[in-house]
Amino acid sequence: MFSDKLNKAPEGYTFDDFLLVPSISNIEPKDVETKTKVSRNFNINIPVVSSAMDTVTEAEMAIAMAQEGGLGVIHRNMTIKEQVAEVKKVKHSEDLTIKDVITTSPENSIYEANVIMDMEEVSGLPVVDNGRVVGIISRRDIKPIMNSDAQKKVREFMTEEVVTIAESTSPEEALDIAYENKVERLPVVKDDRIVGIVTIRDILERKMHPNAVRDEDGRFLVAAATGPFDLERAMALDQAGADIIAIDVAHAHKPSIIKSAKKMKENINADLLVGNIATGEAAEAIISGADIDGFKVGIGPGSICTTRIIAGVGVPQLTAISSVADVAKEHGVPVIGDGGLRYSGDVAKAIAVGADSVMVGSLMAGTTESPGEVVIMNGRKFKQYRGMGSLGAMTGGSGAGTDRYFQEVKGPMKHAKLVPEGVEGVVPFKGPVNEVIFQLMGGLKASMGYCGASNISQMWEKAKFVRITTSGMTESHPHDLTITNESPNYPTTRL
Ligand code: XMP
Repeated sequence: MFSDKLNKAPEGYTFDDFLLVPSISNIEPKDVETKTKVSRNFNINIPVVSSAMDTVTEAEMAIAMAQEGGLGVIHRNMTIKEQVAEVKKVKHSEDLTIKDVITTSPENSIYEANVIMDMEEVSGLPVVDNGRVVGIISRRDIKPIMNSDAQKKVREFMTEEVVTIAESTSPEEALDIAYENKVERLPVVKDDRIVGIVTIRDILERKMHPNAVRDEDGRFLVAAATGPFDLERAMALDQAGADIIAIDVAHAHKPSIIKSAKKMKENINADLLVGNIATGEAAEAIISGADIDGFKVGIGPGSICTTRIIAGVGVPQLTAISSVADVAKEHGVPVIGDGGLRYSGDVAKAIAVGADSVMVGSLMAGTTESPGEVVIMNGRKFKQYRGMGSLGAMTGGSGAGTDRYFQEVKGPMKHAKLVPEGVEGVVPFKGPVNEVIFQLMGGLKASMGYCGASNISQMWEKAKFVRITTSGMTESHPHDLTITNESPNYPTTRL
């Protein structure tokens, strides 16, 4: 019966349909633990992942996300070579050992050594003779003699006893060695030859991000997106060191994609995320067809998405997350709730219905670290943000948006032959990612405190919901005043 299609249709819910109910609690927000699984084999320290979109995540964003304890997924609207380079930038962003060491020779003059330091903007130089470190000279050594002895040789003024380290020395050991010997830089030596240099400043800078997520070698975790059938890209990203590869497609519940995911998983070492999906049946089908490491859930909730309007298809996001989580949890597969989050309370609700983490586009677009320039409109700052299914994204870059939405365009007049499922626009400029994350995590921790949950799995167990009406939501937002001082976690900017 056709009428049954309507009469028996389930209801779907999203963020604004529910509130979390305050429960008895002895949990303070400051004591809450936000560590979570982003894929089978990787934990992150905050449950936030930045979207694989060309106005959201390239290396700069991925580095900032990893420093804060989250994860960035490098978008794929670029060539394989370019994407590989972005992954490598993240992986090598914190290399302690500077490989292109600037050195001087013992036969150089003090004047020459000083010129090298000025040009290279360094404050000290290893003195190298035939590849061997024979001394070290710093600005401090040079300064008092620049007028009197500038033509004399470096050999006469260098410190001959050089403290060196091996390539295998850990940052902590290097720091101890530098402190014990009261030196600021340590040449790295292999088979008696200089192969690099480590400075204390770099080691200390690394310690400024105690929440950062790193791989076994101490490098930032990074994920990268690939097309559903792009095995070549997946393998290249894997070799470049991506920890997680995300199949990025609008509708992953397809036998052909499941088959491709299986093959991809067999050919890479990285964890494999598959998405997007929005139903328990999709989760069942994918889990039974491929040994995957995580799901990305969300069809049409995104701020720039028009899928639900253009195709009339989608599942409200809380229903989608909970339906997938019911299946995924039984198999130990983590779930990322992707899209539709506007406030920190939405992060809490997504987790409460079973998400291990959330993926955010608009919340991270408009930050200092997102790609693109700041534009000023009506006296306020904005940055571009566009859907990967928008005309601009599908016709720009490597055209990745077209296969995300299963569109093939041949010949000229590309625009006319595309059916966009996303829009292009701007979002307010928000400053650095760490400030946005601070507010998001502050809100999540407050929520967990209200719910009596000290960690993510307690949130799954303990958080309870109350269903609300439109008037309940109206009551929830500030009302009956004109906001004069915008809060950092409750933007009111309109164009
Ligand atoms: P938010 O709400 O965080 O959503 O801005 C970001 C997520 O939206 C998805 N996405 C799209 N979905 N058309 C869509 O239907 C699009 O053009 C599009 N671009 C991105 C994606 O999952 C992202 O993480």
